[in-house]
Amino acid sequence: MPSEKIDILLLGAGGREHALLMKLAESPRAGRLYVAPGNGGMLQIADAATVDQDNPAEVAAWARENGIGLVVIGPEAPLVAGVADAVRAEGIACFGPSGEAAQMEGSKKFAKEVMARAGVPTAAYRSFTDRAACEEYVREIGGPVVVKADGLAAGKGVIVAQTTEEALAGVDECFSGAFGEAGATVVVEEMLEGPECSLLALTDGTTVVPLATSQDHKRAYDGDKGPNTGGMGVYSPVPILLDGELERMVEIEQKVVDQLRADGITYSGCLYGGFMLTKDGPKVLEFNARFGDPETQVVLPRMKADLVGAFLACDNGTLDPDMVAWGDDWAVSVVLASAGYPGSYEKGKVIHGIDEAEACEGVTVYHAGTALDKYGKIVTAGGRVLDVTAVAATFEEARANAYAACDLIDFEGKQFRTDIGLKAILGRENL
Ligand code: AMP
Ligand code: GLY
Repeated sequence: MPSEKIDILLLGAGGREHALLMKLAESPRAGRLYVAPGNGGMLQIADAATVDQDNPAEVAAWARENGIGLVVIGPEAPLVAGVADAVRAEGIACFGPSGEAAQMEGSKKFAKEVMARAGVPTAAYRSFTDRAACEEYVREIGGPVVVKADGLAAGKGVIVAQTTEEALAGVDECFSGAFGEAGATVVVEEMLEGPECSLLALTDGTTVVPLATSQDHKRAYDGDKGPNTGGMGVYSPVPILLDGELERMVEIEQKVVDQLRADGITYSGCLYGGFMLTKDGPKVLEFNARFGDPETQVVLPRMKADLVGAFLACDNGTLDPDMVAWGDDWAVSVVLASAGYPGSYEKGKVIHGIDEAEACEGVTVYHAGTALDKYGKIVTAGGRVLDVTAVAATFEEARANAYAACDLIDFEGKQFRTDIGLKAILGRENL
């Protein structure tokens, strides 16, 4: 029965998962909501499931024993570990690709080979398991060049090297085990230039429904300075696209899903394309097998959809473009981080002002790294602590409201970028 309520288990603990949970909770089909492990914000609206999110057998057994009708997988690690396969093997609906399909994110080499077969534009590359051969190649082509650990490295493992020396140091870092097993195979690729754009899409393995565009800010400090992070802020949609660029990105994602199907792999879930808008058109930087974080925190609040229905349709092959609609509003989200992030930071700082911030026009505060302490107070528990998102009729208003809300929140060591979204206002010619 399409109107029947179903109980849902959501895996993950970040701002992305808090945004997913809030959108799932809005659905008329949402029954009881469980999260594993969840965070301080998620646990205010869902119950904790005591299950290891990366253990396929454990997740599948818990879902069966608790009458779960849909498992939603937020992060990449459980996907690559094959949690979706184990859940589906129990006859339970799951949002997220199979372990094999998740290799689009889990192995850069796998993704590059699929892209080559699909005829999709991406940076030229070579992959190496032999250190000497890799070093020789880097010396031969010289910098600028990008060196990447092949496997999952939690957002690290990419060295954008301007010089040959930096590139060789990156090769050394990968092969010396800095990224663990992920660095045993190293990809060396051409450096692409241009603004970046993320395009998330829902897919059931055949139909691809693009969501709104968004742009992340990966560096820690203003002016795109400092080390790479998981993302310090984001906005949606991206106003600087040139004619045809969106169509081209959608076409690329469709080609990849079609290629995987031709290869015998059904990719269902969210396909996240990270693109560089080069002067020769959009080229793929990477694919992720999940929603983006923090992209989700600006895309989902703008989306008009029954998310439970759309996720079930991805799983059972009935996805339809009419299931998703958009208004013409704008969203800007600013990440409040702990002092020291992305390096080491302290935890357990009491957070004040979240209610006051959420009283601002159009503002939602998604929890990323928070926990409830023994007195029920919300405290910091991660590097990225909160995502302060504002939705408004204009870009400028969304940006101003997000920053006004950030000022109302307080915790020891709070740090954030003050220039999220400025590039969008400057325009493409000034980037
Ligand atoms: P990835 O995890 O592959 O998306 O890489 C992380 C970040 O490194 C990207 O968001 C880009 O800013 C940068 N990057 C990755 N690959 C390239 C490339 N081929 N050319 C230029 N920048 C890159
Ligand atoms: N925002 C980057 C990511 O989700 O990988």
